[in-house]
Amino acid sequence: MTMADFKNLEYIDDKLKFINQVKLPLAEEYIITDNYARIAEAIERLEIRGAPAIGVSAAYALAFSVKNKLDNFEAEFEKAYERLHRTRPTAVNLFWALNQIKEVFYSAPEKGSSPYLSLIERAREIHRADSEKCDMIGKKGIEIFKKKSVVITHCNTGALATAGDGTAFNVIRHGFKKGLVEFVYADETRPLNQGSRLTAFELEKAGIPFAINSDSTAGYLMQQGKIDIAVTGADRIALNGDSANKIGTYSLAALCKMHNIPFYIAAPTTTIDTGCEDGSRIKIELRDKKEINRFGSHLITKEEYDVYSPAFDVTPAEFITGIITEKGLHLPPYKF
Ligand code: MRU
Repeated sequence: MTMADFKNLEYIDDKLKFINQVKLPLAEEYIITDNYARIAEAIERLEIRGAPAIGVSAAYALAFSVKNKLDNFEAEFEKAYERLHRTRPTAVNLFWALNQIKEVFYSAPEKGSSPYLSLIERAREIHRADSEKCDMIGKKGIEIFKKKSVVITHCNTGALATAGDGTAFNVIRHGFKKGLVEFVYADETRPLNQGSRLTAFELEKAGIPFAINSDSTAGYLMQQGKIDIAVTGADRIALNGDSANKIGTYSLAALCKMHNIPFYIAAPTTTIDTGCEDGSRIKIELRDKKEINRFGSHLITKEEYDVYSPAFDVTPAEFITGIITEKGLHLPPYKF
């Protein structure tokens, strides 16, 4: 598989096909389903992950909930909506996409007939639009590179995290193609290693020279003058620019500020929460202690020790140089 023909999410034979990201990069296993509960489970387990990919797959899942129903559509639809709604709390793309499908469901003219075709059509539109947004982000984002740059990134923001070629990753990829990016440091992104497993895999496929570093190495790299610029994705952006992203992003941005290194966020406008004034209102997901006290299935500390494992943190707007969306580069004060 090359990344050029790789699609994270595919609508095939009226089902959703997705790669199981938990198994990557050591195994490439695909799951094909039209069962909304299976997709909900995949989102919870991070078999599907990354804010835009979560949104697109949830849209398909909600449409599938009424696929083979002959009547009583509303009860099944509402049950599926609730199930999908509680899979992950931070990425706003999930709620945005679910509400898009809900809007179509409740605006369907004929109450007695199946709304499935209208719902699946909307899910496919959301899918196509996400891919187009990735293209625009990648093309417009390269203006952040003022010279041939060494980039640091955190978590995974490429094809695996979206329905297209990625957000921050696509900016890096376009920068590399134009000769503006020469090397990438990929934070490993503890505890689930989206950086060392997924971003490294995508960098390899894109032919971009890179090294994986432990998250705590970022400051040392900056101190040595080895980093020119940082770019990451986001799971939810508040109207003032405060941005939630994978835990460790705030530390990275704070280090950038201290070392005078520009720090950018790249995300589609579907990641902007228009109902959220600032980052203090963003709900942060807490994850299971097993993701911290084990390496794989191997226990590395005492089971009885408490664990605190937020999946995301919020980077204050004043630590962010600019935010790239499909509309272009936004600079503070933000007016999205
Ligand atoms: O817990 P994850 O792997 O879903 O977290 C993903 C991230 O934090 C990404 O950086 C974010 O969703 C942007 S994806 C384009």
